[in-house]
Amino acid sequence: MLTDARVLEAYEIAKSTRDHAHAPYSKFHVGAAVAFKGVEKIFGGCNIENASYGGTVCAERTALWSGITVLGRKEVDFIVVVCDTNPVTVPCAFCLQVINEFSKGDAPIYLGDLEGIKKKVLFKELLPYPFDTLFS
Ligand code: THU
Repeated sequence: MLTDARVLEAYEIAKSTRDHAHAPYSKFHVGAAVAFKGVEKIFGGCNIENASYGGTVCAERTALWSGITVLGRKEVDFIVVVCDTNPVTVPCAFCLQVINEFSKGDAPIYLGDLEGIKKKVLFKELLPYPFDTLFS
């Protein structure tokens, strides 16, 4: 799939942060990268599981929260998710709701495996009717 250099950079970050996934329970390793509008640095994340199971956090949320922690509130430009699955893995509904807090509907979500990006979807295609109280 043809993608621009910034998306490829984010893909490499997502793929390498996936190596840090702490997933001893599911063995399902996920990497993610979030690019914010007007910000050069791209933030990576991985899923971090917990013995309580409920304390587990997905890769998309660790990446997003890493960025917001450093930058404060920013708008998501695009997100890349990398997983070793066929078909590619899409963000769970919980993550979609969290992504909605910082994204507009036309933000692209790139989905890839260990070979590269395989699919591009728009955020609004994954979550067409988000719960929203900010009305921004
Ligand atoms: N997981 C993610 O990190 N992202 C997703 O989009 C789906 C699920 C993680 C959570 C858990 O550690 C493991 O994958 C299995 O659900």
